[in-house]
Amino acid sequence: MNTKLPVLRHTVELRHAVQQWRRQGQKIALVPTMGGLHDGHLSLVRLAKQHANRVIVSVFVNPTQFAPHEDFDAYPRNEERDWHKLGTVEADAMYAPDVHEIYPRDFATRVDVAGVAQPLEGISRPHFFSGVATVVTKLFLQALPDVAVFGEKDYQQLLVVKKLVRDLNFPVTIVPGPIMREPDGLAMSSRNVYLDAQDRVTAPHLYGVLQDMAGDLAAGREMDETVKKGLARLEKHGFRVDYLEVRDAENLTPAVYPLWKPVRLLAAAYLGKVRLIDNMAVPSPGAH
Ligand code: PAJ
Repeated sequence: MNTKLPVLRHTVELRHAVQQWRRQGQKIALVPTMGGLHDGHLSLVRLAKQHANRVIVSVFVNPTQFAPHEDFDAYPRNEERDWHKLGTVEADAMYAPDVHEIYPRDFATRVDVAGVAQPLEGISRPHFFSGVATVVTKLFLQALPDVAVFGEKDYQQLLVVKKLVRDLNFPVTIVPGPIMREPDGLAMSSRNVYLDAQDRVTAPHLYGVLQDMAGDLAAGREMDETVKKGLARLEKHGFRVDYLEVRDAENLTPAVYPLWKPVRLLAAAYLGKVRLIDNMAVPSPGAH
C-alpha cells in the first residue's frame, strides 16, 4: 500500500509533478472523479495504470454540474477514505483542489458541447454537461495528461468528453472503462448510499430489465415492443422512469428498427428521491 500518496491542492503543484514525470519520459493518466470512491472508480485507476506510468486521480465535487435543487451539499465527501482507497490501487497523486482553485470568484467561462450532450441527461439536467465539459477542460489543461479514463457507467458523459476532445483538439486519449456492478447487478455509484434498505433490494431490477431487453433486441424482437415491456416491468417494481431508450451507440441519435448499427440501451429512473442511471450494449443480432 502506498501510504505516501501525495495530495495536491494547487494547480502549480500538479503542473510541477507532471513536468517532473514527463522529463523522466513517463506517460501520464488522469482519472477525474468527484470522490465518494468505490470499486468502479478504482477499476478506472487500475485501467489507467495499464495505459500510463503515472496516474493522477482528481477528487473534486464540481458545483457547476449540479442544479440548485440537486444534491451538491449532500454529495458524499470523505477525503480521508478516498485517500486510503487510492493508496490500495497505487495511484501516484490525488488532486483535490479547493473550489476557488478551480473557480475563482471572477470565473466567467463555460464550455458547451452540442449534439450528443442534448438528449437524455441533457433534457433532464440541462446544465449538467456544460458543467462537466467546463471542469474536464480545466482538469485537462491543468494536468496535461496523455490519457484520461472515463467509465461507461456515465455513457453519455463519455461520449460528450470524446466529442469535446475531438472538437477542441485536446492531445488526450480517452480510454473507456467497463461498468463495475455489485454482485446483484446494481451499477456501483457514489449515490447508492442514498438508497434505503427496501429500494436497495429493488434497485438491481434496473439491470435485470436492461439485460432482458438487450437479449430480446439481440434476438430480433421489435424495438418499441421491447421498450414498452421494459418500461412496464420497471414501473411494476416501483421505479419512476425518466427515460428508457434504445440509441445509436456512437452519437445517441434514436435507434432505427431493424437495428443494423451498434445500439445502446440507456435508462434513468427514480426510486423515491434517488435517481439511478444505467446502460448496456446490445449485442448485434445473431451474435449470441
Ligand atoms: P463520478 O461520478 O465520481 O465518476 C467518476 C468516473 O467514475 C466517471 O468516469 C464515471 O463514469 C466512473 N464510474 C462511476 N461509477 C462507475 C462504475 N460503476 N463502473 C465504472 N466506472 C464508474 O463522473 C463524474 O464523477 C463527474 O461528472 C466528472 C467526470 C468527475 C466531472 O466532474
